[in-house]
Amino acid sequence: MNAICFVKVPGSPAPHPWYNSDMASFTVKTPQREYCVIVERGILSRVRHFVPKGSGKVFVVTTADVWQHHGNRLARGLSGLAHERLEFPGGEERKRLAHVEALAEEMVRRGADRTSLVIAFGGGIVNDMAGFLAAIFMRGIPVVQIPTTLLAQVDASIGGKTGVNLVEGKNLIGSFHQPLAALIDPDVLSTLPDREYRAGLFEVIKCGVIRSAPLFELLTAQRDAVLAKRPAVVDRLIEESVRIKAEVVSTDERESGLRRILNFGHTFGHALEAETAYTRFLHGEAVGFGMRAATHLAKSLGQIADRDATGILNAVDRYGPIPPANGIAAERLAARLVKDKKTIQGSVHFVLPRSIGEVAVVSGVDDGAVLAAIRSALA
Ligand code: GLY
Repeated sequence: MNAICFVKVPGSPAPHPWYNSDMASFTVKTPQREYCVIVERGILSRVRHFVPKGSGKVFVVTTADVWQHHGNRLARGLSGLAHERLEFPGGEERKRLAHVEALAEEMVRRGADRTSLVIAFGGGIVNDMAGFLAAIFMRGIPVVQIPTTLLAQVDASIGGKTGVNLVEGKNLIGSFHQPLAALIDPDVLSTLPDREYRAGLFEVIKCGVIRSAPLFELLTAQRDAVLAKRPAVVDRLIEESVRIKAEVVSTDERESGLRRILNFGHTFGHALEAETAYTRFLHGEAVGFGMRAATHLAKSLGQIADRDATGILNAVDRYGPIPPANGIAAERLAARLVKDKKTIQGSVHFVLPRSIGEVAVVSGVDDGAVLAAIRSALA
């Protein structure tokens, strides 16, 4: 069932029917699966090439608004392939097990079997939920990820993390289920609301801070072009972020080492999301808040030069605004950190910046320093 990836040799004939000289292709190679992440404007119209021959019924899991904006293009891209659409109401607060069960029941009613395939067509919530549905339906069927928000394009659709939230915390139920392919069409961002787009940019800032000073520099130098969604700049942001994610996941699929760096901003961010019942902040905004807190913490621990810390804090501010955090108690967020799934035997692990392009995982941090960093981020 593995999708075939290829390395393009200049001048050689197209190695596969879905080859297109305009696309950027990145390989994710994990023990579970090797697959391509393709970034290409217009790839929606060629999705059928990524459904392996012999697949049964295709189930497209999506939301009403994504389908309204882009459904026709996906349907054309699937032309000739029998497919069913399953709608999910959307919203982080609905990323719950009960909805996965309802989708699975509906699949059975509509004739799904072990040869069926799921297409996750939407933002990060759809990518996580539909991926999890595929992971557990009849003990696992394949999924193709087609992300339609910037956040999902640079993060959620790649790397096989799937799951749902509990009241007690974010993504506390889930599974690693690598997709057959992740297909990224930057054209779909044209209809993405400004707030959602900015939320995705926080994940791009994250990629720059953890592993790519040039990406961070691009974000700071080209802010106007980024916010205007100029195609050449947007494509570079996505491609560089995808390159980083593919490289990190290929090194450490199960997050036992390097992959932890992708959680920069997430430990504090998840606490903020859970504390506000997943209703006040978009995930990317919470990551923006979390990067602020982590940077304040790194600064207070003397782990980062003032100039770099200021650079990160300014970048987060300039791609804001993040919704106000009034009424949220720093102590409650600090208490929530312990429930994060990155917490191991009660010890919270923080991903802290050391410079632009480098982070370190740190544990055993003094509670007072953590509380002070949260207060600074909330201010
Ligand atoms: N979103 C973090 C990861 O994929 O590991």
